[in-house]
Amino acid sequence: MKRRHMLKVDRLMLRFGGLQVLDGLSLTVREGQIVGLIGPNGAGKTSCFNCLTGIYQPQSGTVHFDGRDVSHLPTHRRARLGMARTWQNLGVIDTLTVTENVMLAGHQRTGYAALAGMLGLPGTWHRERELQRDAAEIIEYFGLDAVAHERTGELPYGIRKTCDMAMALATDPKMLLLDEPASGLSPEEALGLATTLRELRDRLKLTILMIEHHVPLVAEACDHVYVLNFGQLLTEGPPADIQRHPEVIAAYLGGTAAETPEPPEWPLKPEGADHGTA
Ligand SMILES: Nc1ncnc2c1ncn2[C@@H]1O[C@H](COP(=O)(O)OP(=O)(O)O)[C@@H](O)[C@H]1O
Ligand SMILES: [Mg+2]
Repeated sequence: MKRRHMLKVDRLMLRFGGLQVLDGLSLTVREGQIVGLIGPNGAGKTSCFNCLTGIYQPQSGTVHFDGRDVSHLPTHRRARLGMARTWQNLGVIDTLTVTENVMLAGHQRTGYAALAGMLGLPGTWHRERELQRDAAEIIEYFGLDAVAHERTGELPYGIRKTCDMAMALATDPKMLLLDEPASGLSPEEALGLATTLRELRDRLKLTILMIEHHVPLVAEACDHVYVLNFGQLLTEGPPADIQRHPEVIAAYLGGTAAETPEPPEWPLKPEGADHGTA
């Protein structure tokens, strides 16, 4: 029996001036799946995430999340419903410690403002202790204990990425949207991430949609992959099929399938990929 849809995106159209960024994009993610969203730089992947989370309002199209039409809900309402996101350029606040960042993220699911909690206003104390405990658990899970009280701005990039992921989990989400979680990580760290994601999915019953260029991670972690090119779906399927798809190879290499008959390996990164920019 097929599992129900956690995310259903229908014919998104997004335009900036003369630029058609998303051109009728539809995709679905079923509960408990890990799905990849790949495509060359500028294909519209991050913009798609921005539409899913309500940061961009597309000109048309709908987004259903967990059985609800969230197309017109603001970002914080979608987050409250269980959508969590990590950022291509990190969502951590550099001047806060790892613990403070994770607690700040956790505040989103409490009934009061983060500032009231930090100031210890009446009624917030117990909840604040609970948040602290939750944060400590998440921090331990991700092996961040040793740096829990260090400012994130002073930590290596890989650790800040892990902190970003810990923050997403602190919101107690149903679904994680990860924007290039492996960028800046070593190949070993990236492969380790595949194990982490599968474990998170299984233990916390999470559904995951992940933008990623790192092919071994996509192949290892994803059940299904969508390929985006110029705002449109080029193809979709299991990772093994996608890697052999001539149009995918062509889109990534910037040539035609005929010119690139048998590339020995799918390129690790699309040509000209720039992971430093959103
Ligand atoms: N706020 C914006 N204003 C104008 N153009 C944008 C904006 N956001 C994204 N774009 C454009 O949309 C296209 C897709 O960008 P993006 O979604 O970041 O691609 P990807 O994440 O696949 O690399 C790019 O040409 C980018 O310049
Ligand atoms: Mg992007």
